[in-house]
Amino acid sequence: MLVVRSAGALRAARSESAAPVGFVPTMGYLHEGHLSLVHAARAECRMVVASIFVNPTQFAPGEDFERYPRDEPHDLALLEGAGVDLVFVPPVEELYSPGDTTRVTVSALSHMLEGARRPGHFDGVATVVAKLFHIVRPDRAYFGQKDAQQLAVIRHMTRDLLLPVTVVGCPTVREPDGLACSSRNVYLSAEQRAQAVALSGGLRAAEAAFAAGERDAEVLRRVARAPIEARPLASIDYLSLADAELLTEIQGRVTGPVLLSMAVAFGATHLLDNTTLRP
Ligand code: PAF
Repeated sequence: MLVVRSAGALRAARSESAAPVGFVPTMGYLHEGHLSLVHAARAECRMVVASIFVNPTQFAPGEDFERYPRDEPHDLALLEGAGVDLVFVPPVEELYSPGDTTRVTVSALSHMLEGARRPGHFDGVATVVAKLFHIVRPDRAYFGQKDAQQLAVIRHMTRDLLLPVTVVGCPTVREPDGLACSSRNVYLSAEQRAQAVALSGGLRAAEAAFAAGERDAEVLRRVARAPIEARPLASIDYLSLADAELLTEIQGRVTGPVLLSMAVAFGATHLLDNTTLRP
């Protein structure tokens, strides 16, 4: 496995003859969720490229950019073990030259849900993914369904900018008790970690109600909220039942595929989870 730190070295190492090239962009501190993306890329592509880059522009001032967990040696060992061919680990200056001001905005999808909670976040995500796609030139790129809004933003950005990349969404990987894998889970205290199971509990409860025929959007939201509201350390940032494509909130009855998504705070840590309900 080759580790490169500059765009020039990446371009030189990316073999033209090894198509399709699969790409797994990450911010490091890897867990099973990231490795499932690598496995999917490995199964479908001749060359697998991963990146490790904690992207400053997707963190607002006061968020956890400085304290975001980092462990490059461990990440590289995991990527090598998973069969990655090439890893791009750029310093910040390699992606953001002095005076960099250009941002990519996917306007229709960036201002609700996570975008309302974290203004500017998706501009940072779309911008860095566009830069990484431009440098790596992958045929296929892999993202987790756990960050459903991010996946929607990246799909739209790729389509709108005519980028020749197939964006692949991969299922959320969970801990044995149902908590979605996330690099931020390490921030949780033991008590918070025990109560964090309520997110997937809310999703499963809503899925069960939906399977039993419930189609009232407000009732489904209420069913999903109940297990979380029962946990004293959990505070719901938002809980949304929205059109799966447009991310607009559903009023009344559910008739097409909907995304049930939530962000829940445990102290300063905000956890995300979601599921798609299909009539
Ligand atoms: O999901 C992440 O880890 C990041 O948002 C991404 C897509 C690597 C962009 O920095």
